Amino acid sequence: MKQDLFTRYALGPYTLKNRIIMAPLTRSRSQQPGNIPWRLNAFYYAQRASAGFIISEATQVSQQGQGYAFTPGIYTSEQIEGWRLVTEAVHDAGGLMFMQLWHVGRISHPRLQPKQGLPVAPSAIAPSGQAFVTNAQGEPEFLPFVTPRALETHEIDGIVQQFVQGAKNALAAGMDGVEIHAANGYLLDQFLNSTTNQRSDAYGGSVENRARLVLSVIDALTRVFGGNRVGIRLSPLGTFNDMGDENPEALFDYLTQQLNEKELAYVHVVDPTFGGHATVEEKNPEGEKLMQIIRKNFKGTLIVCGGYTRARAQKTLQEGQADLVAFGRDFISNPDLPERFKQGAPLNPSDPSTYYGGGYQGYVDYPSLKEAQGEEAAADYSIFSRN
Ligand code: PHB
Repeated sequence: MKQDLFTRYALGPYTLKNRIIMAPLTRSRSQQPGNIPWRLNAFYYAQRASAGFIISEATQVSQQGQGYAFTPGIYTSEQIEGWRLVTEAVHDAGGLMFMQLWHVGRISHPRLQPKQGLPVAPSAIAPSGQAFVTNAQGEPEFLPFVTPRALETHEIDGIVQQFVQGAKNALAAGMDGVEIHAANGYLLDQFLNSTTNQRSDAYGGSVENRARLVLSVIDALTRVFGGNRVGIRLSPLGTFNDMGDENPEALFDYLTQQLNEKELAYVHVVDPTFGGHATVEEKNPEGEKLMQIIRKNFKGTLIVCGGYTRARAQKTLQEGQADLVAFGRDFISNPDLPERFKQGAPLNPSDPSTYYGGGYQGYVDYPSLKEAQGEEAAADYSIFSRN
């Protein structure tokens, strides 16, 4: 059968209409106070419902799991109601949506934490850099990261339970599945990597021990959702958020063999081959090798993301290196990305200055092809101004 971006794909109980996936994208536009999704967010996701499926922006499973101002949560009844607006809008537009479940671990700040406490992590090792928080007036502010508190062994089950509750709430909000965020230097990735995990209990040291928490989260979530609706995201060789591992090949070789034993809808990899950039031509041989190990070990659905162009994605699918390809920045600026790919139409460039925070500008006002060609009128976005 022809494997290309425009052929259908059976993912668990769902039939995807194409293999062009909307990547999880932090946009920091939830309603305040309370970090609650609202109709602006519903409109944005519904505009992108032509994706094979949508993965939501990273969504904190608890207040402790929040690391940035204005990111949405999935732990209060108001947030569940807010996400229900989103899933209804996406479903009405013919789309499918998974929620990415997020705990940031040390990538937080007391300003965002319950009782202004310390962020938690596998070990008390501070990341370098600054946290994005708000001041007493609710205005954005950057503050240096602090040294987190190492979780006690007896607290680890509570972390698993935060993910379980998040998954239950996502289901209650009408999500079609969940993606466990175990990438990009957040809590589960902090457990996986030797740089951030210096523990001496059953959750640190060996590769087996460092993978224990994430595997426990998978087991717990597949009990809630069934294996066909739980995916996981990984970022081998990632250095974002001050990460690194002493032996990535050993870590991801073991981990993906274990993942193959689990019931999972998919494994989603932030592909290290081109370092996330479409403009990079030279392959990173270590990244390419890791992708080969992952593809060999994990026999289920593999999604890749990071620096894919239409041409690179087609080649990857045709060569059988992955089953689905996720696109981030291009989905920010092209609500109708699958149609543009199909027609070979030019893409709107995305504007990084409006990636995080703010209102509808740079969020829902990127034109579709039909709008750009004057065949369809643009919506009246003033309904989304807050004043
Ligand atoms: C970000 O807010 O910059 C961010 C969030 C989640 C990620 C990566 C980056 O996985």
